[in-house]
Amino acid sequence: MAATSGFLTAISSMLLVVSAFIISSGATNSLPNCNTLDCPKYDVIDGNSDFEIRRYNSTFWTSTSKIEDISFVHANLLAFDQLFDYIQGKNDYGVKIEMTAPVISEVYPSSGPVCASSFVVSFYLPEENQKDPPPAEDVHLQTWGVTYVAVRQFGGFVEDYDIGVQAAKLDATIQNTRWASVVGKGRAGGGKDAASYIVAQYNSPFQFENRVNEIWLSFDMETSAVF
Ligand SMILES: *[C@@H]1O[C@H](CO)[C@@H](O)[C@H](O)[C@H]1NC(C)=O
Repeated sequence: MAATSGFLTAISSMLLVVSAFIISSGATNSLPNCNTLDCPKYDVIDGNSDFEIRRYNSTFWTSTSKIEDISFVHANLLAFDQLFDYIQGKNDYGVKIEMTAPVISEVYPSSGPVCASSFVVSFYLPEENQKDPPPAEDVHLQTWGVTYVAVRQFGGFVEDYDIGVQAAKLDATIQNTRWASVVGKGRAGGGKDAASYIVAQYNSPFQFENRVNEIWLSFDMETSAVF
């Protein structure tokens, strides 16, 4: 009896610990365009004005194949054309798909000094299309399970020189938090390219004010890592 209630107490205090770390749940309205467009919902696990730790439960993305390019901006222009055609109806069902935010670019930096990097650019699939996404020749679907990301926001138009700098700043910020070892371990495992990162863009190219972009460092987190 004593052992059982001790066990139950342990369980309930564990649940308290886990839920205490969710700062906000499902809030995306502070992000540009997310009050009118579908954006993936997430829970904020931790953060301050310099960074945020988020959990996305499951997300669906329509993605280009890998684009090799020396320029992030140029690769994104090529990708936007493909993804725009796709949502305008150039898919096997011939259906139009609602615009969403963000557009994300997975960046796989080159290992050599002058080589091209690789980019996979993805459009968040609206909720209504997630059950039966229209296939298309040039794009493929990515389904992500529960995903943890460390996030840093920055403004303006994303430039080639910017993204590596912003990713390094996020990494430096994380190093000074209690997340350093969790993120470090979680990026080394799971067969991910530990140098890769994601750039999320929330505004169309025609919006000049209040532009918000983010760098995401995704990492695996075991439940036991919750502290
Ligand atoms: C994610 O899943 C957890 C556990 O099922 C749930 O508590 C949370 O509300 C979900 N978050 C979002 C943003 O849907």
